[in-house]
Amino acid sequence: MPPWNDRFLRACRREPVDTTPVWFMRQAGRYQAEYRALRERYTLLEICRRPELCAQVTRLPVEQLGVDAAILFSDIMVPLGPMGVEYELKESVGPIVARPIAGMADVARLRPLEPEETLDYVLETIRLLVRELPVPLIGFVGGPFTLASYLIEGQPTRTFVKTKAMMYGQPAVWHALLERLTDMAVRYLRAQVRAGAHAVQVFDSWVGCLSPADYRAFVLPHMQRLFAETADLGVPRIHFGVNTLGLLPLMRAAGGEVIGVDWRVDLAAAWDLLGPDVAVQGNLDPALLFAPEDVLRQRVQDILASVAGRAGHIFNLGHGVLPQTSPDRLRQVVDWVHSMGGDQREH
Ligand code: CP3
Repeated sequence: MPPWNDRFLRACRREPVDTTPVWFMRQAGRYQAEYRALRERYTLLEICRRPELCAQVTRLPVEQLGVDAAILFSDIMVPLGPMGVEYELKESVGPIVARPIAGMADVARLRPLEPEETLDYVLETIRLLVRELPVPLIGFVGGPFTLASYLIEGQPTRTFVKTKAMMYGQPAVWHALLERLTDMAVRYLRAQVRAGAHAVQVFDSWVGCLSPADYRAFVLPHMQRLFAETADLGVPRIHFGVNTLGLLPLMRAAGGEVIGVDWRVDLAAAWDLLGPDVAVQGNLDPALLFAPEDVLRQRVQDILASVAGRAGHIFNLGHGVLPQTSPDRLRQVVDWVHSMGGDQREH
């Protein structure tokens, strides 16, 4: 087994590191020729259901880019299938749900998740990976708000009108739905860590569409429970969303050892809002991978400099790798972070 690289976990715990760790959201995906070739033969969900293949896809970016963490190859929709949700992942669109949730009867039909029984292929993939990987493995789950938005809208949305209409108009249905999704998230994360995941990320990607008051009323209690009921796992929990500048203190109150932020906020400004006793992940604009080399390098350096000696920075993009991205540019970013990073003294 290759030497174990734990700088990602050390940074999550805000311990001293030799250099800044880096990984990328969506580091396995269509920007890779190998992934595109596999997708000619298998759907995304077929890859997820074959542990050997899924482990191979998860490992690819570790081998090719030299990132300091692997993220389980899966999708936030995967645990909804065994709860009774019929959906497809439509190419270049996203999740499409066959019968969107509209009322209490739809919520009542959702089955509790039994991950060991119905998602053993995911847990088997994790067990395979942790035996072989030279870096930590990140498990993940979708945030209850973000999953609820797909379940209610039935498809990706810009306005979240149906989601918010349910929140405001049928609050009992809303809270019942978020309760079930929170139960699922707790069970699923617990099973992933039992199988060997070294850290987890909660992708509440779309929660930034909410006002702080609505987050406090409709999301915060559920997120607080999610984090309270996974605290004893003892692994770092990354709490991520985009467009979250107005929500950062509330997300911090909800929980997580690491808060993930996008590029719409300066990393240092976000950290000032969050306070010093939390780690921060981010936040290069994925579109900068299409900038001239000197511009890209300067922006990587700017982010590292803005950390200014705080302990606990994990370099990442502010959101996922875009499909047209060049693998060579990503590899370059990893090398730059490793050579320029590391000024993370404990203070
Ligand atoms: O990050 C990784 O490398 C791990 C794999 C991963 C996928 N989806 C694979 C995937 C992760 C962590 C996710 C999470 C996910 N899925 C999120 C949260 C993260 C985020 O981006 O905010 C969300 C919102 C989804 C829902 C979803 N699934 C979307 C919006 C899409 C994109 C639709 C498209 O075709 O552009 C998917 C499909 C999907 N999930 C792809 C991948 C690699 C696209 C490629 C493919 O279809 O093969």
